[in-house]
Parts: sequence; structure tokens; C-alpha cells
Amino acid sequence: MTTRVVVNIGELTTNDPRFGDETVMGRARDAAVVLDGERVLWIGPSAKAPDADELIDAEGAAVVPGFVDSHTHLVFAGERSDEFEARMAGERYDGGGIGRTVAATRAATSAQLRRATARRWNELFNSGVTTVEIKSGYELTTEGEVRLLDVARSFSDEVTFLGAHVVPEEFASNRDAYVDLVAGEMLDACAPLARWADVFCDEGAFSVDESRRILLKAREAGLELRVHGNQLGESGGVALAVELDAASVDHCTHVNDRDVAMLAASRTVATLLPGAEFSTRSAYPSARRLLDAGATVALATDCNPGTSYVTSMGFVIALAVREMSMTCDEALWAATGGGAMALRRDDVGVLRVGARADLVILNAPRAAHLAYRPGGALVQHTLRSGAKPTRAVRENLA
Ligand code: NIG
Ligand code: FE
Repeated sequence: MTTRVVVNIGELTTNDPRFGDETVMGRARDAAVVLDGERVLWIGPSAKAPDADELIDAEGAAVVPGFVDSHTHLVFAGERSDEFEARMAGERYDGGGIGRTVAATRAATSAQLRRATARRWNELFNSGVTTVEIKSGYELTTEGEVRLLDVARSFSDEVTFLGAHVVPEEFASNRDAYVDLVAGEMLDACAPLARWADVFCDEGAFSVDESRRILLKAREAGLELRVHGNQLGESGGVALAVELDAASVDHCTHVNDRDVAMLAASRTVATLLPGAEFSTRSAYPSARRLLDAGATVALATDCNPGTSYVTSMGFVIALAVREMSMTCDEALWAATGGGAMALRRDDVGVLRVGARADLVILNAPRAAHLAYRPGGALVQHTLRSGAKPTRAVRENLA
């Protein structure tokens, strides 16, 4: 195994509170990191860095842990820029366009889906993302959801069954039958292919009772839980996620005091997706209220063709800082350590000996530039340990 040493790191953020300045950011100046391809082997002062097979000189640049994008819908066909244009001209988002992506995805070949996913995975990687969660949810038939999970699995280990995205058109007059299908045959076929189950518990999607039923069945089938909640209204999704000890409840755009207090008292992470508010021209969730109450906040791209066709974590961080009053450090932590907590992982989103060798060398002397220079080419080099997605991406982009 080739070892590599990154030297002359001007500002290193580790997220390890036992390292460097011993804050939650675990920050040090003039640092070096040694990697063995898979894992972090050593972290310390650049002047004391041990030899390695390969030397990378960061020349004073900032280094941060690879971003952990804990919420994406990466496997889909088509695009919906016409809906975006209509929203920018004043229309409201109500989830109605999901059916269009379902139709386009059903019509696509598996090779087309793999290729489209590879392209988007690569865009995320080029923005510094080294762990990416991928959901199904754009076929809404048993065979179709299996197909999407199958594609997702070749790009990530963090794969989520989202058969309960919306009730598809063909079940419009018999939604109970669709809930039965998702919690029955579809779940049985999909559970072996996924780690997580998710439900869109919101206005126009699934009620709290329907969502609870599906999630409890999913847990019985061995899946861990996450929830899309409170994006379009005070849907009860946050309370349900906390009740079920879901790893994460995502969106949290409309939350009341009780929701905030419940999140703060739980280990369910509030994952905020400001790309969705940007792209639907909606009010942003109140990150400050959640953070000040003591809730754990993660940031993710929500990459999907309807509400957030975003593949840049830097852009998400900039939105969080500018529009949701998060500090630059809170936003960076939420996109790394917070994402890892939302996926219940302790080997990513952090740089310490034994953690996965995932890091980003920025084109900047300080990590604050991620928000300070939005839209800039801030990522100089992304190092990621696992070879699996790289191979799937290479094959499908060839
Ligand atoms: O996270 N909210 C539900 N699902 C996606 C949007 C899906 C779509 O509009 O295609 C989201 O915003
Ligand atoms: Fe989503």
C-alpha cells in the first residue's frame, strides 16, 4: 500500500476536539497528515512529518475532512428546469413534479441511469464530497426501486430505500394499496439492498400514520431509519423521527418550539438542505434556533432534479452562512462531522488516526473561504480512500 504525506498544511481542520486548539474544529497550523490509502496513519506538525512513498506539498493551503453528503437523490433521469423557471416567476413548489421524474426514470435504461449517476457522483467528488448517501424513490414499483438501489449500491454503501416518496399516479385513487405495497412486497425486495429507509412525511406525500407504519416495517426488515420531514408544512415528521430514534430528519423548514425541543433532547440529527429553499424560493429553516437549543445540525445537498439540483457542498456551506446565520465553522462542521452523525458513522467527517483517509486540500489559506468566495474553484484536490465508487464512476464515464 502506497503511503502519502500531505505537508505544509496552513490550516488543518480535523473535527477531533482532542487535537490542535482542542475546540470542536480540532484545528492546527503548519500541520501534516500521513495516509496509507485507506486510513489516516499520523497527524502532527509539518516539521515532524515522517517520510512516505509520496509527498504532496499543500503550500500553506487549508485542509478539511472530506464532506459527508448525507442526503441525495442521485439516481434519476431527465431534468425539470422549466419548473425552476416557473418558480422564479412566482409559482410555489408542492412536490407535484416528482411524477415527471418518475416517468422519465422509468423510461430510462439502466445504463443511462448509471451514466447519469456517475456524472453527478463525479461532480460531488470534485466539490470535495467523499461520502454520499443515495436514495431510491423515482420509480415507485417493486422492480423499479430494486433497479435504482442496485445502481446506487455501485456508487455508495450509504443507500436508502425511499419507496414512500409520493403515491404514484396509478395508485392515486387507492393510496392505502400503495402503502401496503411499500410496507410489504416492495420493502421485502428492497431491504437486502439498502442500509436505510426514508419516508417523505409531508403535505402532499405521506401522513404521520402512514409513515410510521412503513418505517416500523422497515425497521423490522433490518433497515435503519431517516425521515424527510417538515419541508412543506408542520407535518409531524420531526416528532415521528424523534419518536422512532431515526438517525436524521431532513429539511426541518417548518418547525415549532416543541419540534426544536424534541430534537435537542434526542440523538436525531436535523439535516438542513438550503439548496432546496434556494431552488424553491422558500424561507430558509432557522438553523440558529436549532443550534442555540442544542440540536445537532447537518448540511447536505439534497441533489435532485426538482428542488435542489446542487452538486456543490461549497455552495451549500455558503448558503448556510449567508442565509441561515450559521458561522463559517458551524457550517463546515455540519457538512462534515454533522453529516457523519446523520449517517451514524464515526470513521468519516473527521481526521484522526484510524479514520478513513478522506480529505480536501482547498485552494485557499483558510476554510472560511468556502463561504467567503462562493462559486469559486475552492477545491484543489480531493483524496478518498475507497476504490469502489471511483471504479464505478470510471467505467460509467468512459
Ligand atoms: O428532498 N421532498 C421530497 N423529495 C425531494 C424533492 C423531489 C422532487 O421534487 O423531485 C426533496 O426536496
Ligand atoms: Fe430529499
